[in-house]
Amino acid sequence: MTEEQRERLRALLARPLPLRGRTASGRLWLAPMAGLGHVAFRRVLAGFGGCGLLFSEMCTARGLDTENRKSSPNFRWRDEEADSLVIQISGADPAEMALAAGRVAREGFFGVDVNMGCSASAMTKRGAGAALLRAPEKAVAVVREVRAAVDAADPEMPVLVKFRTGWSPDPGPACDMARLLADAGADALVFHPRVAPDRRTRPPVWAHIRLVAEAVGVPVFGNGNVQTAGDCLRMFEETGCAGVSVGRMAVARPWLFAEWGLGASFGPEVYRETALALLDALEEHFDPQRALKRWKKYAVYLAANFRYGHDMLPKLTRGACLDDFRANVRALLSGDPAVSGRPSVHLFTC
Ligand SMILES: Cc1cc2nc3c(=O)[nH]c(=O)nc-3n(C[C@H](O)[C@H](O)[C@H](O)COP(=O)(O)O)c2cc1C
Repeated sequence: MTEEQRERLRALLARPLPLRGRTASGRLWLAPMAGLGHVAFRRVLAGFGGCGLLFSEMCTARGLDTENRKSSPNFRWRDEEADSLVIQISGADPAEMALAAGRVAREGFFGVDVNMGCSASAMTKRGAGAALLRAPEKAVAVVREVRAAVDAADPEMPVLVKFRTGWSPDPGPACDMARLLADAGADALVFHPRVAPDRRTRPPVWAHIRLVAEAVGVPVFGNGNVQTAGDCLRMFEETGCAGVSVGRMAVARPWLFAEWGLGASFGPEVYRETALALLDALEEHFDPQRALKRWKKYAVYLAANFRYGHDMLPKLTRGACLDDFRANVRALLSGDPAVSGRPSVHLFTC
């Protein structure tokens, strides 16, 4: 990328985005990711700066209205992040989703996001996630009820929806769905242009982001396979999206928000220091069992950064406690390990 392109990207990302009564500080957002976008990871990411909006892991709507944040596996947050954090909720029952959204609004987060993208069968067989894209009336009812519940608690809070192309590769239904969601009260949409059964093995069809963005008056964020600053600029320029949502690469390199958006630069020690900071944060926010499970998930994306990532992964996760993992990180990442420009495709799709 040329310096001129870098500057163009920084200017695009630095634009604040007003959404209902709130304003997102920038246009590069963390995508919601179950098992990865937890409170400990978000703390490490926020420490670098540059992220316009954080998204939680998906939280099941059922029971969320009374869930205890101290014991919940994923409805956990730091008070300091609440005003830049969107809580993603998943479910199929409009009344349940409304109850959950009401709780989110009462807690004072930035916003609430409805999951219409997850195509895991555990979700879709209950009619939740991407299954809602097959049931437009239900999808509309969910957004309407969520909007009404949020209005009752905090009319300034935006409602967002994350969705996919749907169940056929034709972008027409996705454009129709985008209009329905916006009319039902969504203030912004995050669109991942893949058909629902595709678990990230085929490339997303970025051209469909432009079609969806042109179909509605609300901001549409693009998502899918943005790995480098060049990809990010290309997504803006090819699709006309209002902003970009980054998932897996943000796990692999949580400093990318600061790098692409603020012009910060980092030396090779950032891989080691970030991994160690995450281990500390996991220890603080989770019990040992949960911390260990989350380290193993993160390690896949850490390893994907390196040319010998496949070799490295089992060595990063060897051991039974966080101190073992700290020792692994120091041993494996203290030199200058060979970093790949793009992550290992195999590790990124597992
Ligand atoms: C491990 C994992 C968990 C995910 N969990 C969620 C989720 O809870 N909710 C959601 O809307 N999307 C989820 N996604 C999808 C991501 O938000 C994103 O759409 C996808 O990874 C493509 O973006 P990327 O290429 O930038 O990673 C998940 C993705 C991964 C890899």
